[in-house]
Amino acid sequence: METEHLSAHTSIMTAAPESLQIALNELHKTGAGIEWLGALGPGIGRVRSQAGHQDLARRLRQHSPVFIRHICPAQLAVALDHTPADVARLADACERLTGFIDPAVSLSVQTRSLYGGKDPYSVHDLNDALAKRAQETGAPLDVRHPTQVVSVVCGNDKAFLGVSLAADNLSVWSGGVQRFARQAEQISRAEFKLLEAIDLFGIRVKRGDAALDLGAAPGGWTRVLRSFGVQVTAVDPAELAPSLQSDELVLHHRETAQAYLRHADTFDIIVNDMKMDVGESVALMNAAAHSLRPGGIGVMTLKLPERQQERLATLSLGRLRHAYEILGARQLFHNRSEVTVALRPI
Ligand SMILES: C[S@@+](CC[C@H](N)C(=O)[O-])C[C@H]1O[C@@H](n2cnc3c(N)ncnc32)[C@H](O)[C@@H]1O
Repeated sequence: METEHLSAHTSIMTAAPESLQIALNELHKTGAGIEWLGALGPGIGRVRSQAGHQDLARRLRQHSPVFIRHICPAQLAVALDHTPADVARLADACERLTGFIDPAVSLSVQTRSLYGGKDPYSVHDLNDALAKRAQETGAPLDVRHPTQVVSVVCGNDKAFLGVSLAADNLSVWSGGVQRFARQAEQISRAEFKLLEAIDLFGIRVKRGDAALDLGAAPGGWTRVLRSFGVQVTAVDPAELAPSLQSDELVLHHRETAQAYLRHADTFDIIVNDMKMDVGESVALMNAAAHSLRPGGIGVMTLKLPERQQERLATLSLGRLRHAYEILGARQLFHNRSEVTVALRPI
């Protein structure tokens, strides 16, 4: 059979490849009776649960997973032979899912291909063909801010399709992959981490705010904050990029965070991307809580060693709770061996 209806309770989970086991542990902790069905690619696997996708999403919201980047339902499996006929076959399968699509709310089709070979069609071709069918329900297309999503994951011999609310997928981006355009003035790749955190955690960065950037050099995060019209106090013994040295609204303290925090000012935002032992970085972030103005926000990366990441992430979040409410903690697409945390002082 070319198209096969799967158990209503099959989902596809995505995490950083090296964090897949931790992500699976997080799924188990929901108590949804998770059964591992196998990997589809690096960091992507199929699971079956005793709960439907909506119920699983509700349980995940309660447990606030850190390492699961994205999860979507797989309601249909469609055989692929990597010929142009796949496009029509997938579009026909999409039509069989239209009963799950709410015509009153916006929709996007998110297609990922894990196929190692070369297909005679692109992911965009598939997206277009499926979106056309899905739109026949009357649901308006909104690629950037969809309320519901048709998720399509193409593997070597099968594609999996499912419909869910974007809010139930842990990320509105396909597979949790949020890409940003590279800008000529970009200082470091780290900029993408802060941009992703601002978007994912819904952090409001306002023109005229004052920010403290701990471990600022070479200055990517400082540049991002300046692009929002924020004045930045950058703390790092290392040098900042020349473009920031000539910026009057960047004040560089060439000293350690430990030294600076003894005479710190107050700020609306404190960010911390310092390369140091995670326990020490958390202790400094807790000390910095006094320097946040009411309503202020903190963002930090927990730089986790290769081993015991799950335990150290949990321990670090527990320690941060001494000074902050955790607004969000996730291993972002742009994080490597890190977790990014958004904080509000208590
Ligand atoms: C990953 S880099 C920061 C990158 C930066 N966020 C960017 O976007 O360009 C880490 C920085 O932490 C700084 N650092 C390490 N220990 C520090 C300390 N005790 N106080 C201040 N900065 C420190 C290092 O000098 C280094 O520049």
